[in-house]
Amino acid sequence: MGMPPLASGPHGNDALRPLLDTVLDALRTGTVARGGPLPPGGPDTVAARVADAAGDILPDRGDPDALRVLVTALAEGAADPAHSLCAAHLHAPPLAVAAAADLAASVLNPSLDSWDQAPAASALEALVTRALARETGAADALVTTGGTESNQLAVLLAREKHGAGLRLLHGENAHHSLPRATRLLGLPEPVVVPAPAGTLDPAALDEALTRIPGPHLVAATAGTTDAGLIDPLPEIADRCTAHGTRLHVDAAYGAGLLFSERHRALLAGLEAADTVALDLHKLGWQPIPAGFLTVTDTGDLAALRHRADYLNADDDTDAGLPDLLHRSPRTSRRPDVLKAAVTLKTLGRTGLGALVDAVCSLAGEFAGLVETHPGFELHAPPTISTVLFRPVGATDDAVAAVRRTLLGTGRAVLGRARADGRLWLKATLLNPHARADDLAALLALVEGHTPR
Ligand SMILES: Cc1ncc(COP(=O)(O)O)c(C=O)c1O
Repeated sequence: MGMPPLASGPHGNDALRPLLDTVLDALRTGTVARGGPLPPGGPDTVAARVADAAGDILPDRGDPDALRVLVTALAEGAADPAHSLCAAHLHAPPLAVAAAADLAASVLNPSLDSWDQAPAASALEALVTRALARETGAADALVTTGGTESNQLAVLLAREKHGAGLRLLHGENAHHSLPRATRLLGLPEPVVVPAPAGTLDPAALDEALTRIPGPHLVAATAGTTDAGLIDPLPEIADRCTAHGTRLHVDAAYGAGLLFSERHRALLAGLEAADTVALDLHKLGWQPIPAGFLTVTDTGDLAALRHRADYLNADDDTDAGLPDLLHRSPRTSRRPDVLKAAVTLKTLGRTGLGALVDAVCSLAGEFAGLVETHPGFELHAPPTISTVLFRPVGATDDAVAAVRRTLLGTGRAVLGRARADGRLWLKATLLNPHARADDLAALLALVEGHTPR
């Protein structure tokens, strides 16, 4: 093998074109070979197949067929969110246009830690982050790897403002990354506020804010991981205002509702937050990662100010080179905004809103199917696109078992969630191309595989 070609530069295009054909063919071959939403056989079977395809992963002499073989193996062994029976997690099927844009990001490889590595990408990032910030009523936004990093950064910004005694209060329905952030940042154990109906109880929050010494950070959720519920944001915001408390809203899932004329009112109160987590790899159909943290007071970003002479020397900044290092705790950083910018502009608010409306409608249809089926119980009508359901009369063990059996067959991918003291099957519907027939098939599969 000679010197391998580069992806960019004068010959990048010629080198890439046949490789892209190889990738696209391998994706098709692997996807057809899989047949369903998940490879059948479970972890050992899949791992053996991958090991077999991969062979010696670092051979002495290279293998020019590695791209075809490994992409085929990955596609054959993928959990494919574009398959309508793959509905376990907040794991969205990416839009073709976003994936195509992401290829350009990989080829050009701008790095957002200094202007001299990302002149146009940094300018585009500023446009996208400001546009998304405006959507939540904020002033600016940081690009993150997702809700986890956004939540961690929200806690970090609050700690820098209020000190190491900061006490996080979050609902028992909050994402695990919030309590984890306090541990990672060396903060006191968070206060867990009851959420008896699946959403944070404002009266219990008020009581905790009154009883527990501050400084406080309240974290609410707009789109819970388990049930897609939205905390009562206006009431929570009022309580925070009354106590002079900072508010973070984890809208990693729910923020996509902002694009929908029909659903955006569900997020009333979001504009009162100091920080908002928003993931476009959930209700935004981006390849992972596409996370954002919107920030209402740009002064909060001073917490991330950091000097590294080779990236943002004072004299370079004074001479007008943008200082990018304070935009993230990371150093090298991909231009994840390119795919987001291309998507926002290609689809527009209407196009994105239509996708949001489609998955919400789908969830409503699925809930309707469950409700009218004598063999199933519906937990509650969906707020966003998550539906919790269980076979009538099944034990928790049977609910857990049917999920695992379906994973083993590779015919359906469902999640699980505990609510009201019982285990439920969770369908997180994020595929706007799924149809009512698919949902009926999903229910039939569960019915056919539930142990009795
Ligand atoms: C409400 C909520 N917040 C945060 C996260 C974490 O997001 P990520 O996996 O992108 O870090 C999730 C993930 O599902 C979530 O549901």
